Amino acid sequence: MMKDTLDYIETFTDGFKPEIGIVLGSGLGELADKYCEFAIPYEKIPGFSKSTIEGHKGQLVFATIGNRRVVMMQGRIHYYEGHSMQEITYPIKVMKKLGVEKVILTNAAGAVNKSYRPGDIMVITDHINMMGANPLVGVNDETLGVRFPDMSEIYNKNLIKIVDAAGRILKIDLKHGVYIASSGPSYETPAEIKMARYAGADAAGMSTVPEAIVANYCGMKVIGLSCITNYAAGISTKKLSHDEVIETANKVKTKFMDLVLLVLKNI
Ligand code: HPA
Repeated sequence: MMKDTLDYIETFTDGFKPEIGIVLGSGLGELADKYCEFAIPYEKIPGFSKSTIEGHKGQLVFATIGNRRVVMMQGRIHYYEGHSMQEITYPIKVMKKLGVEKVILTNAAGAVNKSYRPGDIMVITDHINMMGANPLVGVNDETLGVRFPDMSEIYNKNLIKIVDAAGRILKIDLKHGVYIASSGPSYETPAEIKMARYAGADAAGMSTVPEAIVANYCGMKVIGLSCITNYAAGISTKKLSHDEVIETANKVKTKFMDLVLLVLKNI
């Protein structure tokens, strides 16, 4: 399967070797539109599952940004769409095989930390996996990583320093926090968000954790960035909706893109 995938991608890349992988979350796909040199729709790539969610395009985009060669997932594949953990993290393994050394994982998330506001950007320092599944379950591929991989520093501390420096230059008040992932697709209940807060989480979402686990397992360095799009359940009286998530992500996307672009320059 991996060979078929790589052979197919190779027919487009013509020797282009990406060094950085970026997964663009809800409403954040514009970076790919702006810099796209060539793109391959997921449905054409052997082994890839199709993303079905509005606000997610579903293509692999290759670009040179500044002097960095980048491969972007414009739209990720989610667990809640019914794909397995192995399926949704397959593109991360493909990135590794393409030569990617660092990945930037982005997402939209709800504020669990009451001091956060919609529109904030949170640098993920660690995560809590409440999805009820792990993407590494199954026979281990020793060419990618070990059976029992260490996860004590998934989000690379040196890269976090680089993100912070970029935030200072751009005068963005970056938050640092713990991301908690549940499977979705329903949003959390107020009781679940309260539990998450007691457990030490700052933002809640339905993605990123599987990709981060697999990237770290494969020996890639990870940056995680959450766009805080809403207060998580129970914090405000407002009901949660995907429209609100997309609306806030759209408002933040320029700031978010500026940050990613400056980080790209410096990593
Ligand atoms: N919960 C889970 N996922 C999310 C949220 C949320 O509040 N906002 C955006 N994605």
